[in-house]
This record gives sequence, structure tokens and C-alpha cells, in this order.
Amino acid sequence: MIKLNLKNAVTNSAINKFKKNVEIIGNRIENLESEGFEWLGWKDFPENIHPREIGDINQTAKRLLKQNVELLVVIGIGGSFAGTKAGIEMIQGEYPNKQKIEIMYVGESISSSNIHQKIVYAEEKNFAINVISKSGTTTEPAIAFRLFKKLLEDKIGIYNSTKFIFITTDPTKGSLLKIAQENKYKTFTIPSNIGGRFSVLTAVGLFPMACAGLNIEKILEGAKKANEIYKLANIDKNQAYRYAVARIILNKTLNVELMVQYEPQMKAFNEWWKQLSAESEGKNQRGIFPTSAIFSTDLHSLGQFIQEGKKILFETIMTVKEPDVDINVLKNEKNLDNLNYLSNKSIHEINKIAFNATTDAHVKVAKIPNIHIEFDKMNEESFGEIVMFFERAVTMSAYLLKVNPFNQPGVEIYKQNMFKALGKPE
Ligand code: PA5
Repeated sequence: MIKLNLKNAVTNSAINKFKKNVEIIGNRIENLESEGFEWLGWKDFPENIHPREIGDINQTAKRLLKQNVELLVVIGIGGSFAGTKAGIEMIQGEYPNKQKIEIMYVGESISSSNIHQKIVYAEEKNFAINVISKSGTTTEPAIAFRLFKKLLEDKIGIYNSTKFIFITTDPTKGSLLKIAQENKYKTFTIPSNIGGRFSVLTAVGLFPMACAGLNIEKILEGAKKANEIYKLANIDKNQAYRYAVARIILNKTLNVELMVQYEPQMKAFNEWWKQLSAESEGKNQRGIFPTSAIFSTDLHSLGQFIQEGKKILFETIMTVKEPDVDINVLKNEKNLDNLNYLSNKSIHEINKIAFNATTDAHVKVAKIPNIHIEFDKMNEESFGEIVMFFERAVTMSAYLLKVNPFNQPGVEIYKQNMFKALGKPE
């Protein structure tokens, strides 16, 4: 279970002032009466997903494994890949040794060097493709799909390739759906009432995660359990809404939230959270600028600014209660490095001491508000729970800021400029 500690950030009396407002907004969310309510499908999706769909996802992943697929090329950008990467890396780490099918992400940039490197890597492997796009019209994945489709067709033939291309998109519209229908590719669905950055617990994330070997039922279980609490319109019981309020209070004087992890395998999670927060809240000249760090790595770079630089930020620090494995510092007879004072000490313990020491330095000396979130383990249940926690929290924060969490009008401006410059036909 997530444990939220706000004692170094805001007072209870400041939080309590939001009680009524949170109750009103929370009830509107639950009753689908809030602005953008037609995009709230994600909040009950873990309860609503049909067991047949879960079975289909698992069976398809199993089939690929049986057919000796070594690599799944996930083609998508923004919400169509960030959550998947976050989940897989959080649970399996940066160097997974238990990954059933290796996952590679493409279509999240327009870098020809990067795409070429990935083509060279994939062509040596037995690979399948999962293109993910809600709109079905996003440029970056569309470019990558053309290239990887051709690569696969050249490798195993057009007919065979159709059995190794999977499309995850809106069930009713978009070019990708047309392509899937015309080529008879297998499709997975992103429900019409769920937007990109809230879609990781749908087939968007579930299919690649199942291919990687994750237990997707457990992820959904974690989310369902979390939902029992995080849907309550009660600030005393609902930690997600409490965190949302703390952010809004801090944002009155501080513009930046630094999300800090003490586990490097949470790096992709930071990226997912940044998208969720920035795209949901950054509107009408409002919002918190989300940025992130990994400690202690970034204490040796950003640490100086945090401690003594301009006072622009507050920190939200996530730590894991129990690591996957704990190892001890080695003893050395000669002790030339003078490290024997740490001999046989657990590295996780040292990481915890680093957390406490850093918190003291940042809170007591630099006067930087610190929110602390502790979660149980880097496993499937915790991932489901954490996703629900932040999706709920960001939705509440956005409503408290009086913006619609579910659109992204600002993103459209660069897209339109780019289409114009490239000469895209109307
Ligand atoms: O959250 C969002 O809606 C966006 O970030 C989208 O996920 C992103 O732009 C990709 O869009 P699509 O899935 O339509 O290709």
C-alpha cells in the first residue's frame, strides 16, 4: 500500500481547507459530471475490462513466444508507449534477464539515426510489431510503421507478416483501423472514452507487458484494490486526493515539482508521470512544471542547484519499502579504500540512509518542501496501484486548477505547424 507523508510539505490545517472542494469535485468525477467526463473511462477500466480480452491478450503473447518471436517492436509516442515502458522497466529493471520477449520502442522520435539503429537491431531478430495510436494519425509512429512493416515483409513475406503485426487503436475510427481492416491485422482496442496518457492499463500497455512476461491480471488487481480507496471523495481517507491538494498548495509559491526516485528502474516511470502531469495540467497559464531526478545519481549534478540554487521547486520523493534483492557491501582484508566501516551492511539500508540524510539537507537546510511516497515493491500489484494513484491525483489537481485534464490543445499547435511546413494535404 502507498504511504504518503506530507509532514515536510504542508500542514494538515492547510489541507483541510480543501475538504469541501475535494468532496464536490470527487463526487462529480464519480458521477461523470465533471468537465471532460467523457474521457473518464480509465477510472473503472480495471473493473470493466472483459475477462475475454485479458485472455485474448495473454493467448496472443503466448502464441508469439511459441513461434519464437524474440523481439516486439512497440511503435507509439506519448501515452501510447510511455506507460508501457514505465511498467516493464519498473518491474523487470533496466537489464531484464527474465523478459520473455524483448521489447523495443520506436516511433517516439523522428531521428533518422535512432530509427536506423533500431532497424539494424531488429532485422537480425525474429520480430513482431505492435503499432499503438489512439488517433491512428500521429506522424512519428506512422513513419516508423512504414519502415518496420517493409522490413518484416521483406524478411518473412507479406502473407506471413500479417500474423505478426498487431494494431492497438480506437475501435471506430482512424487511418490505422483502416490499415488493419484492409490487411486483416489483429487489433486490440483503446476504448473511445480513454485518452492516451490514461491508457496504460488498457491493451495499450497490457499487450506489450504480457509479451514481456508480466502478469497483467496482477497489475489489474493492484489497480482495482487501489481504486477502492482512491475513488473516495474524502480527503481524510484518499491519499491520492490528499497528494493532489498538497501539490496545489505548494504550487501557489513554487512552479516546479521534482519527482525523485531512489531506484534507477523507476526512470521510465518518471517520464510517464511527467507526461501525465504536464499534458493534463499545463493549460491557461496554469499548472506545475514536472521534472524528475534519480538519486543519488543526480545529487552529483542537480543536487547543487536543489540545495543552493533559485527556490523554484518542491520535491516528491518515491522510495520502495522492499527491494527485489538486497546485497551487502563486501569486506576487504586490506581495506585500502577505508570502506570496511560499511562491511556487510545492506546496500538498500545505505540507500535509505542516503534518503534520510538528503531529506534533512533539503528540508531543514534548504527549506525545500518534500512530499514522501513509499510503495511496497517494484512488482505488478504496486504498478497497478501507483498508476491509479497518480491518474486520480493528477485529475483532481487539474480540476482544482480549473482546467480540463483530458485535452491537450497546446500540443496541436506544433503539429499543425509541422503539417503545414511538410505540405500535408488537407
Ligand atoms: O495523452 C495523449 O493523448 C497524447 O500524449 C497521445 O498519447 C500522443 O499524442 C499519441 O497520440 P496517438 O495515440 O493518437 O498516436
